[in-house]
Amino acid sequence: MKLDTRVFPELEALSRGLLDETLAILKDAVARRGRFAIALAGGHTPAKMYAMWAEKYSAQTPWDKVHLFWGDERYVPQDDLLSNCRMTRETLISHIPIPAANVHAVPTHLAPPEKAAEAYEADLRKFFGATPEFDMQLLGLGIEGHTASLFPGASALDEKQRWVVPVTAPAEPPRRLTFTPVVLNRGRNTFFLVSGANKREIMAALRGEPENKPSQYPAGRIRPSGRLLWFLDQPAAG
Ligand code: 6PG
Repeated sequence: MKLDTRVFPELEALSRGLLDETLAILKDAVARRGRFAIALAGGHTPAKMYAMWAEKYSAQTPWDKVHLFWGDERYVPQDDLLSNCRMTRETLISHIPIPAANVHAVPTHLAPPEKAAEAYEADLRKFFGATPEFDMQLLGLGIEGHTASLFPGASALDEKQRWVVPVTAPAEPPRRLTFTPVVLNRGRNTFFLVSGANKREIMAALRGEPENKPSQYPAGRIRPSGRLLWFLDQPAAG
């Protein structure tokens, strides 16, 4: 499968390149629609970009026009060490003047997980209306090809109605909430950020897939109507 990639020497340069692109999209979105909605990725890779955003790009960011969402979240308390929201608060949110109402955290305090998924989807529908069109979606890549919390073989990959579903993942912690392809295949700009030699094999596997067949990997099933770019560091690109 042909992937549109941008390769950087290492994660620092990748993060800077991604932020330059982010601010350009942000400025255009605010000029056109008066706001910028981004779905953030979890895991470890984006932490450097989030910290750099706070340290070096905050002054040029109109935070009152920026809305932060998460493409997936672990079903843990928001102060849990495994929470994507906690990671983002520590690296970005605690260091910027963004209005609290613009931070759309996944309500993982609601039980059961189905209720949390419904509440998060209601927040999305209130924000977007009928069509969830993010200005930007950041996605990570797992070594077995998962993205967000869409893992190989998950029924959520074939979801056609719901925007957010609870899943049980073969990863720690197993209970998660994730966007479905209903959302992820509508983004205006979708960027995968992939770093590290441990991602080289899955990147080669994705690139080696035939164009005319659906990907066997969840990440390969994300084929949004808008721009799709893969931001890689050299170790991941091979
Ligand atoms: C999560 C993420 C997940 C992540 C990949 C890559 O909640 O864990 O959303 O999809 O992006 O697992 O994680 P790393 O960046 O830690 O390699």
